[in-house]
Amino acid sequence: MAKLFKPYTIRNVTLKNRIAMAPMCMYSCVNEDGKVEDWHRIHYGSRAVGQTGLIILEATAVQPQGRISAQDLGIWDDEHIDGLTEITRLIKQHGAAAGIQLAHAGRKATVDGDIQAPSAIPFDHHYKTPVEMSETDIQETVQAFVLAAERAAKAGFDLLELHGAHGYLINEFLSPLSNKRTDDYGGSSENRYRFLRQIIDGVRGIWEGPLFVRISAEDYSDDGMTSEQYIEMAEWMKEQGVDLIDVSSGAVVPAKIDAYPGYQVPYSETIRNGAKIPTGAVGLITSGLQAEEILKNERADIILLGRELLRDAYWPYQAARELHTEIEPPAQYSRGWTF
Ligand code: FNR
Repeated sequence: MAKLFKPYTIRNVTLKNRIAMAPMCMYSCVNEDGKVEDWHRIHYGSRAVGQTGLIILEATAVQPQGRISAQDLGIWDDEHIDGLTEITRLIKQHGAAAGIQLAHAGRKATVDGDIQAPSAIPFDHHYKTPVEMSETDIQETVQAFVLAAERAAKAGFDLLELHGAHGYLINEFLSPLSNKRTDDYGGSSENRYRFLRQIIDGVRGIWEGPLFVRISAEDYSDDGMTSEQYIEMAEWMKEQGVDLIDVSSGAVVPAKIDAYPGYQVPYSETIRNGAKIPTGAVGLITSGLQAEEILKNERADIILLGRELLRDAYWPYQAARELHTEIEPPAQYSRGWTF
């Protein structure tokens, strides 16, 4: 059997294969209230029917001012729990695990009112200038992540991912390009990591299940973070009980990125081998063979697919055929038929 289809156990959860749907914003909360709509039900449910092993819901805002857009999903209020519970039920009834990416957009939020960041520097001239967060703001935001994790548990999620990538709030603290603070939250790598450290500690205090962190392993800019530098932070995450690092890159500052098939896989490899922690590879991975190569050469432990799963909700069936592996389809597809 191809490694892509071998089950993978993380803590109390066994994924039926190594295929994960990468978190992708759907900008579909039409009433701007962060609540689940029909679009989310169909979109996530169909990938579960398609045999994706782990479905990670899009960046879901832990505070309303931390939304990338006003149409983002939210988890800042208990009112969000019912809708999210429906989604986990739809995902899990087809044998997939349900994950959610907890997010705060920081200086990349595009909502009304003030937006916050470690330092008062806009991303570029299209974005608002954020307000520098006070220590109180920081503690409130850490607490918002913890409360969001509690709500995610109530909604039945199997797995949490903290969004520490793509230039959103956590990433803004981690990178020296966006964090110019002179207090305990800026300067040294230890200080820049402190915000994420407190979030992980808080979340781990109430969440026993699998915990992922997504990072941008390269800033693609002079004096920015590199995957080599992230090894140290990945070691800290491991010590704190993070189970897997989902290795993405870029978007903390404007930069030109040369994206080609598998372009982020070397960063996953660097962190996996350097910090001895499981990783996920993501970015222009489109075929079963490509995914199998990454897993078998131990460059990552799971494969996350973004756009390829948007193009084809049933991609796992095609990958199984390509890798000569039989997978069990839903009973509805196989009754009396050879699938
Ligand atoms: C994304 N991506 C993304 N990443 C993330 O961490 N949180 C998110 O909410 C989103 N939103 C999002 C929306 C859409 C429509 C796309 C296409 C992408 C990035 C995504 O998870 C993935 O890392 C990239 O798309 C690269 O993988 P692919 O698409 O080349 O497989």
